Amino acid sequence: MTNALRLGIAGLGTVGTGVLDMLSTHAALLAERGGKPVSVTAVSARSKGKPRGNHDLSKLEWHDDPVALANSANIDVFIELIGGDEGPARKAVEAAIAAGKHVITANKALLAKHGTALARAAEAKGVALNYEAAVAGGIPAIKVVREGLAGNAPRKVFGIMNGTCNYILTKMGNEGRSFAEVLKEAQALGYAEADPTFDVGGFDTAHKLAVLTALTFGTEVNLDAITIEGIENVTLEDIRNAAQLGYKIKLLGVAVRHDSGIEQRVHPTLVPKGSPVSDTDGVFNAVVVEGDFAGDLLLEGRGAGAHPTASAVLSDIVDIARGNMRPAFGVPAASLKKYQRAPEQAHRGGFYVALQLHDKPGAVAAIASILAEEGISLESIVQRGKTDHSTERDTAQFILITHDTLEPSIRKAMGKIATGGFVADAPRVIRIARI
Ligand code: HSE
Repeated sequence: MTNALRLGIAGLGTVGTGVLDMLSTHAALLAERGGKPVSVTAVSARSKGKPRGNHDLSKLEWHDDPVALANSANIDVFIELIGGDEGPARKAVEAAIAAGKHVITANKALLAKHGTALARAAEAKGVALNYEAAVAGGIPAIKVVREGLAGNAPRKVFGIMNGTCNYILTKMGNEGRSFAEVLKEAQALGYAEADPTFDVGGFDTAHKLAVLTALTFGTEVNLDAITIEGIENVTLEDIRNAAQLGYKIKLLGVAVRHDSGIEQRVHPTLVPKGSPVSDTDGVFNAVVVEGDFAGDLLLEGRGAGAHPTASAVLSDIVDIARGNMRPAFGVPAASLKKYQRAPEQAHRGGFYVALQLHDKPGAVAAIASILAEEGISLESIVQRGKTDHSTERDTAQFILITHDTLEPSIRKAMGKIATGGFVADAPRVIRIARI
């Protein structure tokens, strides 16, 4: 009988326990698909005594230190589910590679910061660096881009890649509930990161985008080149305004390959209702890849939670059992191109602008002339009259939707509007994607 593939799991939180669930439920199936039995031989976690569902860990080798687990002679594959871009996760992954173990990781923060170096190290040692669970949870986006689209040179990849944010925006819109209340619910359901500012601040999406960009375009990973805005400042009112104008607000991660370089952005975005990603609600994620020969692909599924994420880890395990070895970022690490950042003007699109205008003669005319000076043309204008009855401020809310325009023009116009004495609050601006 073929020798079993021996797994060492570091981190037994939500995802780690999910992996144990799948391994016990599907032991026979996995052995058949991988061509050999797969079993956990050793584990490492912060607290040894903590109950972990029905799983009896007493017969497994236990390590308090994940680096010791990475060096254990009793594992072939090191599965890193600790998280964090430095500290124990990084040390343990580096140790595992140095010790000649295959590595599976769900750690997008680690890959976004050290992905290129880790890919080089893994290749030098002839071991796998698999990370299907790091991007969009249960959606096999990595495999689709690396293998299914191996013959394409995509120009764009984008998506909704944070389940927590999508859950919050969906619930706020559908149920009129506050940001804070829905965030608490997402944390209780196990969707959010240990520190939820990673989710709502857009950093988690940025980590995933950085990894997906490197894979899609064959470049070195570059997290620092991403322009990041989170959803903390999106209000219930913005969500309602957008809905009335035929849009939903989603946190998108977008990467585009221009002739001048690569543009990567993460920000709240108005997407037209009825477009494919606008129907991706709740904890669901969506990844869209525009293949130059395959055309557009939309992948949708659960982006967070124990079992969807564990499902991605399991696909990496089966790949290693089968002996499927591919370069981590689709091309040998030495061939990854240097990252070249596109100038910011490359971004062109529509904008949602919410202005709290002082209700006095000439205010609208002044706004219109500032927009005209910057060459910004409007698709629609809605005036809502007084909205703040509690303070009885003499203001009127103006919602503008612009035609496609260059981002610097909008920024310039908003600067003039903000300092011109026409508005009671800073203008609120959200980009529109007509997809
Ligand atoms: N916190 C992440 C999310 C988990 O909400 O999508 C999956 O990476």
